[in-house]
Amino acid sequence: MLIGYGDLMATGLSCDPFGAYRAYDAELQRLLFASSVTDSDIAAHLDGMAYHRLRQIVPLEARRNSSTFFTSTETRARLVGPYRTLIARGASILDPACGVGDLLIAASAFLPRTWTETRRYEHLAARFYGVDLIPVLVSVARKRLQLAMRPHQVDANSGELTELRLIRSGDGLSSEVPYDAIQLLLLNPPFKRVTLPRAETWGEGLTCEAAPFVLNALERCNPGTYAAAILPDVLRSGSRYAKWRGEVERLAKISAVEIIGVFDPWTDVDVFILRLRVRDVARRRMLTGSDKWCLARARAAAQTVLGDVATISIGDVVPHRHQVSGPTVPYLSVPSTPIGETITSAPTRQFLGRLHEPPFVLLRRTSAPTRGGRRLAPSIVDGIVGAAAIENHLIVVKPHDQTLATCEKLVDELVRPEVTHWLDARLRTRHLTKSALSQVPLSGWQGTAANLHEP
Ligand SMILES: C[S@@+](CC[C@H](N)C(=O)[O-])C[C@H]1O[C@@H](n2cnc3c(N)ncnc32)[C@H](O)[C@@H]1O
Repeated sequence: MLIGYGDLMATGLSCDPFGAYRAYDAELQRLLFASSVTDSDIAAHLDGMAYHRLRQIVPLEARRNSSTFFTSTETRARLVGPYRTLIARGASILDPACGVGDLLIAASAFLPRTWTETRRYEHLAARFYGVDLIPVLVSVARKRLQLAMRPHQVDANSGELTELRLIRSGDGLSSEVPYDAIQLLLLNPPFKRVTLPRAETWGEGLTCEAAPFVLNALERCNPGTYAAAILPDVLRSGSRYAKWRGEVERLAKISAVEIIGVFDPWTDVDVFILRLRVRDVARRRMLTGSDKWCLARARAAAQTVLGDVATISIGDVVPHRHQVSGPTVPYLSVPSTPIGETITSAPTRQFLGRLHEPPFVLLRRTSAPTRGGRRLAPSIVDGIVGAAAIENHLIVVKPHDQTLATCEKLVDELVRPEVTHWLDARLRTRHLTKSALSQVPLSGWQGTAANLHEP
């Protein structure tokens, strides 16, 4: 169902782009059996070294196509930490897209120190499951897990380690993966965009591969199974994943949603942690519009929000799509709309579609979260410009009272740090949405929609 590494190979895109990573696998093999190894040698390989080598050896395009982006030590500890007691009690654990084993390594740290090394290793060999499509990653994952347990399990006679057979290569969603035998599911699934083979109740067409992966995995877990996933923020805050969120809540109860921010310095994707407990089949009910995903402060009863005082619309002109025909009108695009200025004249173009009558505030639609600075970049368009066509990368915020004074008041509001913080919690995708903007809380207005008149 999902397009993965196997398909990548089948398309003959390249010969095995991960082939050269076998040299790193061999290095770990030598380390496992070396007569003198320091703790700091081992620590480096359990920390970022495996990923560092991958980035050096495997081209970015191949890593993107196969979603091989591995979780940092800090984030994996944060993901797994709340399950320390469950793990210490001997829970079975599965990472069905395990890469080089980072999430399982984090879990192994919580096996009780009171157990002997042999017991801990045997427990890991019998209860930790990992699957990945790329065989060399599985081989590296096994060796890293063995290093995490320290190489004390070397059989003095054979010079071999008990094999970690439950860490294996294959499709993590295949029927052989024993979801029904686990108590804790750990996930950082592939994020790339794929086309769903058929329409689902929650979506169709192009989607983030993590969305079907999570649902597929949850469907197969026993009721009561704990699940913790690192997921792209678009699944939490994107309006097109609203039905997917409903589907997740049908299958599992949300215990926590935690914003992480950017995944790591090399992967410019905002992520969040989702903690779940799989529901009993009898308790599965479709839920939509749950507010558990939205960490922005909910509207208080007397709070005025932007949607109460202004109409918000996305600009209509897509330059490469719209023909240059129709009447010649003022036209505002990103380059002709300097941030922070009041615009009194505009270039022109021919356009047949909707025009916007100023005064209004224009916002950049692209707005990256938490990279410092303000989230919103407003300009004011003066009434003198006349009814204008607006480029699709801009958002029109038109006050209901249609005055320049309200535009100015709105700009003062929108650049407040509180608005940036609120938006960062509400939405961490690159594009602002109408629904998020309409909920932005305003501090300088009294009353709610009921007593704020529209002309
Ligand atoms: C984002 S990485 C995460 C790896 C690991 N869980 C971590 O957190 O570091 C996703 C991994 O999923 C693997 N993968 C993609 N599709 C898969 C599938 N259908 N079954 C198993 N592994 C898959 C990729 O090879 C990649 O190693």
